[in-house]
Amino acid sequence: MRIYDIIDKKRHSLPLTKEEIDFFVSGYMNDSVADYQASALLMAICINGMNEEETLNLTNAMLRSGSEIDLSCFGDLSVDKHSTGGVGDKTTLIVAPIVAALGLKVAKMSGRGLGFTGGTIDKLESLGKLSTTLSQAKFLNQVDRIGVCVIGQSEGLAPADKKLYALRDVTATVESIPLIASSIMSKKLASGAKSIVLDIKVGNGAFMKDLESGISLANAMIKIGRGFGRNVRCVISNMNIPLGYAVGNSVEVYEAIQILSGRGEKRLREIALALASNMVSMGLGVDTQKANQLVDEAITSGRALIKLKEWVIAQGGDVKYINTPELLLRAKHKDEYVAKESGYISKIDAKGVGIASMLLGAGRVKKTDKIDHLAGIILEKSYGDYVEKGQVIATLYSKDKSFFPGCKSILTNSLSYSQEKPREEALILDTIL
Ligand code: URA
Repeated sequence: MRIYDIIDKKRHSLPLTKEEIDFFVSGYMNDSVADYQASALLMAICINGMNEEETLNLTNAMLRSGSEIDLSCFGDLSVDKHSTGGVGDKTTLIVAPIVAALGLKVAKMSGRGLGFTGGTIDKLESLGKLSTTLSQAKFLNQVDRIGVCVIGQSEGLAPADKKLYALRDVTATVESIPLIASSIMSKKLASGAKSIVLDIKVGNGAFMKDLESGISLANAMIKIGRGFGRNVRCVISNMNIPLGYAVGNSVEVYEAIQILSGRGEKRLREIALALASNMVSMGLGVDTQKANQLVDEAITSGRALIKLKEWVIAQGGDVKYINTPELLLRAKHKDEYVAKESGYISKIDAKGVGIASMLLGAGRVKKTDKIDHLAGIILEKSYGDYVEKGQVIATLYSKDKSFFPGCKSILTNSLSYSQEKPREEALILDTIL
């Protein structure tokens, strides 16, 4: 077999066999396939696509490139969730304690933020000395004991995806449904959960720009899950507007605590509860109505908030931040961003707000950059709200005052105003079971 012929085959839009896909993935891992050859094949896949069988075979090859976590001791109770990434998405911090309080087992690996999107690991590390690198034995022991543990992505899981993703990132080959579906699913399958809820974001703050491509991605991932004997559900949600009012790290933990305390913003609560409810429905084998009721009770009874405290303590974090969440808003400098005109806010671009928060120190440009956990933005007003010129739209947090002007100019470009109230944007666009 020659990699040249495999590239040529895909260039002519022909389907690749399992053997050819395995040859490509193992060859790329042992360096017998060069970066430029892998890039050419990835580009041909981006342009000509892959059928269901090829996508399944690619997922399998990436999954088998590393180790897998065995969660079979938890039976049907092991559940996982994954978001395709967005701005202000702190749903894991809300959903994990809710479902763990209901007896489910969340053994989750999460990522760090990069570019304009945030990552759960950075958010968790706002909580004092909370550790996100545990041995597998400690990780599983914690899940067994309290039902939840979240750590950074293990190097050993789906290493082929890691290597290929890094290449896709610099060769304009990220935006391909079979490549995204196999990338996400190889990691989720390796993480071992029996049931997985995927939150697929669509909009200008997400990889998928429209609902149609979101549905295609959902179908591709559900088919992969089914092929590997896992239950998968997809919630497709709007990412034109940041999720919730906080964007950053500690500010997002603050907002998550508000939701778990029965307060917080309506849209964030809606998506978090929908994700939790789908996990409960699959993990406990109950219908959606019963799952909704259980999720509701976990919050109103205070059990979900207690579970968050147990979780933070178990990973070595400082529970004072949960007991007194205002401590999470203690950045050295604060500033205000005010409305440039009077009117309804008719656009609040998620990607722009993500970049503005990154410029305050909350995100990384390069993987190796250090972040300021206390930096971020709290939106005091959002899409559809009426503001008078000069009224505060956002509070900015940073350790460095000199970051405020750059952040403000990005915010100015990210906002529009109208004299008519804009139509409401639905948050959950579809749920695919
Ligand atoms: N997230 C992933 O893990 N992989 C992709 O390809 C895109 C988003």
